[in-house]
Amino acid sequence: RSTNRLLFDVPKVELHVHIEGTLTPALRWKLAQRHGLKIQLGDNPREFSSLADLEDAHDSIPVTFFQGYYSGFEVLRTREDFFELAMSYFERAAAMNVRYCEPFFDAQGHTRRGVAWSDMMEGFREAQQKAARELNVCTSWTMCFLRDSSPESAMEHYGAALAYKDMIVGFGLDSNEYNRPPRLFAEVFALARKDGFRVTAHCDVGQRDTHDNIRQVAAEIGADRIDHGLNAADRPELVALVAQRGLGLTLCPWAYLRRETFASIGERMRALIEAGIRVCVSCDSPVYTDSAWIVHNLLLTQRMCGFTDEEMVGIVRGSVGMIWAPEEVKRRIL
Ligand code: HPA
Ligand code: ZN
Repeated sequence: RSTNRLLFDVPKVELHVHIEGTLTPALRWKLAQRHGLKIQLGDNPREFSSLADLEDAHDSIPVTFFQGYYSGFEVLRTREDFFELAMSYFERAAAMNVRYCEPFFDAQGHTRRGVAWSDMMEGFREAQQKAARELNVCTSWTMCFLRDSSPESAMEHYGAALAYKDMIVGFGLDSNEYNRPPRLFAEVFALARKDGFRVTAHCDVGQRDTHDNIRQVAAEIGADRIDHGLNAADRPELVALVAQRGLGLTLCPWAYLRRETFASIGERMRALIEAGIRVCVSCDSPVYTDSAWIVHNLLLTQRMCGFTDEEMVGIVRGSVGMIWAPEEVKRRIL
């Protein structure tokens, strides 16, 4: 059978997917109609007369990643919207044989628009329960703090999230990394760890301070994982630090094509994996990265790194060791 089928069929876990980054133009259109909202892509004030019109624009209008990503939030308002957002991802995950995921959500991006916590979380909960029951896809949620918002806002949101602690396994750090080192959030992460949650943080590829950010996340924040962290491969001392702390990396190679060459991504991924560091290849925000979902990212990894089918299956199975669910869930996945 072809490799393409093999990577579809192998049971997978996905540990780096922003649920808001899975909002397809089709669902965005449907929710905009539901609420009588105009759709605006990024700063572009153009209106769209049909879904086809929106889909064309989505592929052709140049907006930055964050413009595109945050402009989609606007249509997410009710419990039903959050349910449909999560459910449409779970259906796609099931079709690709993703058995377990730890999706990120950006609570601050919703509360600041006036969305109620209960609408957001109960919508997610209903989808999570239905996916477990009907699709054999299990979920634990990871709430990300927006690093371009204040540490005080992160702390407030941490407190509010505790009302849903049965759904949440960990806390992460995302959004714009420019001049926002992880140590700004040391206090809230320390509290989360003390309360028994797992911790991760984005160290995106090619950021100006990425090497120091990786060091902070590994050595100061005491994280359990790093999201991206590909630039650890540039420095032997960072490879050693990440390996010695047993930190897995969630890697989303398709997203790196925006800034990096094919060869430089492949070489670094291979170096990290050969150093014994566990990775979980994931999709990040597929609607804003050329509609590349987890299988596309796995196929790209194989092509970039020249791994055999057996090596790819080994990488996918290794990523099960990175999940934050209890042992009995792990055993059920493989
Ligand atoms: N990096 C930072 N913030 C994000 C990302 C990312 O890859 N995706 C969605 N928000
Ligand atoms: Zn991400």
